[in-house]
Amino acid sequence: MKGWKIAVAVILVVLVGIQWVPTHSNQKNTDQGKDFLTMYAPPARIGTLLRTACYDCHSNHTVYPWYNMVQPVAMFMENHIVQGKKKLNLSEFGGYSSRRQRSKLKSMASQIEDGDMPLTSYTLLHRNADLSDQERRTIKAWIDTKI
Ligand code: HEC
Repeated sequence: MKGWKIAVAVILVVLVGIQWVPTHSNQKNTDQGKDFLTMYAPPARIGTLLRTACYDCHSNHTVYPWYNMVQPVAMFMENHIVQGKKKLNLSEFGGYSSRRQRSKLKSMASQIEDGDMPLTSYTLLHRNADLSDQERRTIKAWIDTKI
């Protein structure tokens, strides 16, 4: 076999093989009263935007697309969810100390204002999570009133 054929064969074997790596589901029932959207009850439009743009990685409830059944997509996504939740879990926001809540609110406002969140790798596929400048300004202004 020529070198490239061997390379293609190896890639295929690896791609098929990693399908056995289990995919996980980020679904955990937690106290609804500690949820960010329940606590702050933002105007419906802002609530929807935050749920659409942030909750898949920063909450205990990810809405998975079908391609999460495919590896290595699932591993890539799980890593973002684990890292994202470690820094900010909106489902458990009420469990943070008030000092931590304040600093997370500030951090959310600046991430949204600077366009750093949601991650670009996410908005490429989740087009409705790609916030417009106007939406960013609206959400930021609302968060500022809570700090
Ligand atoms: C695709 C997954 C994903 C989405 C969607 C997402 N984030 Fe993140 N977020 C992460 C990851 C991963 C980190 C940690 C690594 C980093 O800082 O880049 C993070 C970090 C953060 C941090 C930093 C927390 C800290 O204290 O350091 C804030 C704040 C944040 N995200 C807010 C948001 C907001 C607000 C949204 C929605 C507008 C959002 N994120 C959407 C994955 C995501």
